Amino acid sequence: MRVVLLGGAGYLGAVATRHLSALGHHVTVVDGLIYARDDDPKRLLPTATAFVNADLRDVDALRRAMRGADAVVHMGGLVGEPACAVDERLAVELNFASPVLAAAIARDLGVPNYVLFSSCSVYGQHEGTVDEDTAPHPLGIYARTKVLAEEHVTGMLDGQAGVTVLRLATVHGPSPRQRLDSVANRMTAQAVATGRIPLNGGSQRRPLVHVADVAEVLAAVLGHPGGHGVLNVGADGENYTITQIAQTVARAVPGTHIDRGPERDEADARDYRTSFGRLADLLPGTCPTPLIDGVRQIAAAMADQRITDPDRPEYDNLKGLRACHAAGRLQAVRSAECDRLWQEYADAFGGVLR
Ligand SMILES: NC(=O)c1ccc[n+]([C@@H]2O[C@H](COP(=O)([O-])OP(=O)(O)OC[C@H]3O[C@@H](n4cnc5c(N)ncnc54)[C@H](O)[C@@H]3O)[C@@H](O)[C@H]2O)c1
Repeated sequence: MRVVLLGGAGYLGAVATRHLSALGHHVTVVDGLIYARDDDPKRLLPTATAFVNADLRDVDALRRAMRGADAVVHMGGLVGEPACAVDERLAVELNFASPVLAAAIARDLGVPNYVLFSSCSVYGQHEGTVDEDTAPHPLGIYARTKVLAEEHVTGMLDGQAGVTVLRLATVHGPSPRQRLDSVANRMTAQAVATGRIPLNGGSQRRPLVHVADVAEVLAAVLGHPGGHGVLNVGADGENYTITQIAQTVARAVPGTHIDRGPERDEADARDYRTSFGRLADLLPGTCPTPLIDGVRQIAAAMADQRITDPDRPEYDNLKGLRACHAAGRLQAVRSAECDRLWQEYADAFGGVLR
């Protein structure tokens, strides 16, 4: 199968590319390497991968890369609220406009399958257990851009291509393009480097999933022809509170002390328990890797110097984005189509735009 991964040189993409290539798929990665422009894609990606260094809003580059594809996977953009808050307009262009532009090209070219990476963050805050039928409750820019991208891509390709929206739990574990800024990886890096985990509150619930399990789900979805609608990606047993995540890390990294702060992190109100029953019905046995395995793998990578300085900006999307944004290397392009979609975003969330 010929698969095009948009944003495929990132944390998830580098793992997914290896997995899909090992299964015999022909993978093309389109990525602008926005966090490390001088990074060598050969270091990140298997040799057989075709690599296109391009912006995910460059419709000509997308069209060239997607011609003849059996599936397009959009896994690029800005991840998490702090990165999206650096420049809301840029976040809308990368997380909403880019998937829409790619869907329009996929439709024109007759690409039969489109997979969109979204996030369980769309659920925001919810008392009980959320599933794919729960109305999204986006609490910030990141979740709002994801909700709109899901709606538009699904509507545009209805009856034209199979669409699958993967709402991922928060991902942990090692990757050739390592991120240490998501909760479990960050706590592990802090525990190994300093022996301490700062914990603000900790009662918020968060589902987690291992990076290799996400790659397997993607491969399995691509292997089942047709679209599967919205799927939460994770496992029921991998719902944790933030305190439980810290305790799991402290168990795996002996001598770690948890420094407790105020009861709640006001900057991040996300709090929900997620059901992964739909995925388990479709693909039984997927996402089997527990949190502690990912924690041990990150700790081992630090112990044997595969990760040397965890404070390096390349491990932290927010630091990396601030650097390239301040240097003018990544800005909103405000093309006519991006402006039109910005307006749609403003109309949908007008009262809360900054
Ligand atoms: N990592 C998680 O915990 C998590 C959780 C839920 C959902 N997701 C979703 O999964 C997807 C992948 O996440 P990730 O952790 O691999 O992120 P990442 O930041 O490591 O990868 C994103 C990639 O997109 C590329 N990119 C961004 N803007 C670009 C542009 N304008 N032009 C070209 N390339 C550009 C970057 O260079 C990077 O390689 C995202 O859609 C994210 O929202 C991730």
